[in-house]
Amino acid sequence: MPAKTTMDAARAVPAEAVTPLIRGVAVLRRLTEAGGTLSASGLERATGLARSTVDRIASTLARMGYVRLDGRDVVLAPRVMELGNAYLAALGLPALLSSHADALADELDESVSLAVGDRDGIRFIHQATRRRAMSLSFRIGDLLPAERTAPGPLFATEWTHAEWQAWRERRAADPQDRDFPAVPPREHASPDEDFERRAQHARKDGWALDDQLIEPGLVAVSVPVRDPRAGGRIACVANVVSHTSRHTAPDLRDTLLPRLRAAVAKMERELREAPQPQPQPGAATAGLAIWTGASKQELGREFVESLARGLTVLTAFGEGRAELTLTDVARATGLARATARRALITYEHLGLVRQSGERTFALTPRVLSLGYPPLSRTSLSEIATPHLAELADRVHESASLAVLTPSGEEIQYTARAATSRVMSVNITIGTRLPAYATSLGRVLLADAPAGAGQLAASLGELLPLTPHTITDPSALATVLEEVRTRGYALVDEELEVGLRSVAVPVRDRTGRVVAAVNVAMHAARRSVEECVREVLPELLETAGRVEGDLRVAGRFARVAVS
Ligand code: PHB
Repeated sequence: MPAKTTMDAARAVPAEAVTPLIRGVAVLRRLTEAGGTLSASGLERATGLARSTVDRIASTLARMGYVRLDGRDVVLAPRVMELGNAYLAALGLPALLSSHADALADELDESVSLAVGDRDGIRFIHQATRRRAMSLSFRIGDLLPAERTAPGPLFATEWTHAEWQAWRERRAADPQDRDFPAVPPREHASPDEDFERRAQHARKDGWALDDQLIEPGLVAVSVPVRDPRAGGRIACVANVVSHTSRHTAPDLRDTLLPRLRAAVAKMERELREAPQPQPQPGAATAGLAIWTGASKQELGREFVESLARGLTVLTAFGEGRAELTLTDVARATGLARATARRALITYEHLGLVRQSGERTFALTPRVLSLGYPPLSRTSLSEIATPHLAELADRVHESASLAVLTPSGEEIQYTARAATSRVMSVNITIGTRLPAYATSLGRVLLADAPAGAGQLAASLGELLPLTPHTITDPSALATVLEEVRTRGYALVDEELEVGLRSVAVPVRDRTGRVVAAVNVAMHAARRSVEECVREVLPELLETAGRVEGDLRVAGRFARVAVS
């Protein structure tokens, strides 16, 4: 069990703090540290809570869509990312700077990250990662001890005396970095003076290096991004991360630092010229909608309302809503002032909210410790799998997710939930089939920007796979047009005799079709009309749930589609 930080242990719990909220937050943090999944008994051990309490918290979080209950396991679900999204949206930096970081990563063919200071640590708010076999790579939300990183000494140039003192106390209390589950344990002690010296250099140089402080081979160079709107204080730090097999640390400084600096100049210009962020209408109340409509009876005896209400408070913050008064929070969440106030007091105690002005509150980077890192690397197939399983359960047929291959001629299955019924086609994840003769393929082709006619003509010879297969390009073009306007495809024995399938699109945040979901069945099981009447609505419901998760997960993190 991870030790409590010295700061947590030192401060007494305020009398007005909401105990179920403290416990719910502890459950989310332990799940995050465990990589996203723990059994109920594992949670019991990790939190020290009674089993009945763990069960009630888990069922409340499940009702909110923040976790899934999978047998004995409690699993973080994509929707929990709306908490971290609230922080990242309020911060505003990823929206303004991540495209610059991505462009630099492309230019250098090295990983580039953005980090903010989080007390005596650094926390990542963006990662443009080149996956390389040689070294570990960090995720959005991961926390690293300042002294083992390149951005750390840059942030330390702004530390107060009290912050330096807190850092020294943490070093003494946790010499092996056990409170930082994202980094390997420290192999050899480094004297505090080393970091103090690095901070002095950072102040003088305006950049800093990490020469294998986290693990052998891993090197980084960092430059602060200063916010002209905040008197030139460091808004975040931009990092280029490499491996000694490609660059030594001095080599990073000599070759890549100038290009990093040029990119940071562009980022600072972006901050200078950015218009004041405007709150999105309706965005602030999104958190409540999921559960507040339900009656007590529907929510069940297990539902811990004070936990759900408290978590909703975090989602009151967002784009253009970085600093809120108690009145703002109460209005946005629909909670009574007294309830909102107690939640804010609880969060301040937990270090998730800070007082930003005389009457205003702001989220802290620590909000990202509530589920973000394990989910920030999720894929569309991971997102879809539980929804496909529910769909297959409801309609008693197999359900699948597929994407178009780069050539555009085939579909490839990326997730699947099979029923026990024996199917004539033996499909597994990875299976490829011709796009033109499958419902999944037609949904994907129908969204092609080139237009159906041109596309159908470009697919090459359309072979008759059964006597029913459409093989005439212009007939296919007409069908694709229909699919596009109707919003679904139904393919009746064109791929295989006796096989009927219906598919609908899955769209990303921008409305682009990125995948398709289908249900396939033996033709004897349901008529075409029954397919449309009974299966299509279920399929649309499933696609909507996948899209909802994808919107939350893909807001600041990149969701791999295949
Ligand atoms: C990273 O982005 O992975 C990173 C950044 C700075 C470091 C180490 C790693 O010092």
